[in-house]
Amino acid sequence: MTRIAIVEGDGIGREVIPVARRVLELLHPEYEYFDVDVGYGRWERTGCPCTDPDIAELKTADAILFGAVTTPPMKDYQSVVLRIRKALDLYANLRPVKNDRFDIMIVRENTEGLYSGIEELTPDRATTLRIVSRKGSERIARKAIDLARQRNGLLTIGHKANVIKSDVFFRDICLAEAKSAGVPCNDKFIDALSLDILQFPEKYSVVVTTNMFGDILSDVAAYLVGGLGLVPSANIGDRFALFEPVHGSAPDIAGKNIANPIAAVRSVSMLLDYLGDSPGAMAVETSVRHVLRQGICTRDMGGIAGTREFGDALVQVLR
Ligand code: NAD
Ligand code: IPM
Ligand code: MN
Repeated sequence: MTRIAIVEGDGIGREVIPVARRVLELLHPEYEYFDVDVGYGRWERTGCPCTDPDIAELKTADAILFGAVTTPPMKDYQSVVLRIRKALDLYANLRPVKNDRFDIMIVRENTEGLYSGIEELTPDRATTLRIVSRKGSERIARKAIDLARQRNGLLTIGHKANVIKSDVFFRDICLAEAKSAGVPCNDKFIDALSLDILQFPEKYSVVVTTNMFGDILSDVAAYLVGGLGLVPSANIGDRFALFEPVHGSAPDIAGKNIANPIAAVRSVSMLLDYLGDSPGAMAVETSVRHVLRQGICTRDMGGIAGTREFGDALVQVLR
């Protein structure tokens, strides 16, 4: 029995995930679904955003569908999504940005870099240790190379090796892996890459980069397809996988039924691909396009449909 953990989380996670879940349940009524309540809301109610038993429960799922969690910038609060990524060793964060003209897969290292969590705060100095390990770099490079090979595409390494020595290390490992795999590869400084990807998206296929650069680059690249409401992601490790929109809990629009559910729905498509149901994955993508062609879309895309109404239209097309 395939078991799916559903984490709505906070803010618009509680609006977009119900739509995504309807889509998944429609295609796979035979899966077993169970909810896991973690996030800031849980912290407000109980004083703890996510417990060890929650992590253990998540590990029993074949795949996790995740909305978004609010992470307040407080000194002692640990982001739930970061905790899950680390605990489940979800080292590859895949963030596809594509339309009819281009097809880019951003491959973000998801467990180390500036997100090492090794930090020190003193009254006079704050330090964050940026860890780039050989193991972490090799495995993300190999994941990106596999994808580039599948797509017959170019691998681009995004880095800041002109300034940061740990990125000389990262770039050289990626270059060596690509060379030994025989995959065409180039590299670019992350600042220049951030502009170039907006000006010439069709030049790119797979972009591999470190944790924080990948975080920023994926929000930047979302501009190419109409914003954060559109971009899904997969967090993949060797044993577990979690699928979530790239966007966050969007407190500015939460509770208004105006959030775009497409990023969450497309995350279902990535989940289905991962579980081996590529026809289902394709059906989800095609249905989203079909609904958009009917002129039904949410406010961020210039339309008037609500989150739920978009979901209704989508379910009707899928049926
Ligand atoms: P955000 O992605 O939540 O929102 C950024 C902007 O995009 C906002 O104006 C928002 O209204 C808009 N937006 C986002 N998703 C949208 C959608 N589906 N439809 C329409 N508009 C959408 O980023 P933020 O405001 O910087 O962060 C809010 C909270 O979310 C923070 O606590 C942050 O830490 C958290 N966050 C969580 C995750 C996650 O759980 N994976 C990811 C990013 C941010
Ligand atoms: C993302 C988010 C997270 C990240 C935050 C909320 C911890 O921005 O998933 O893109 O930085 O990875
Ligand atoms: Mn982000």
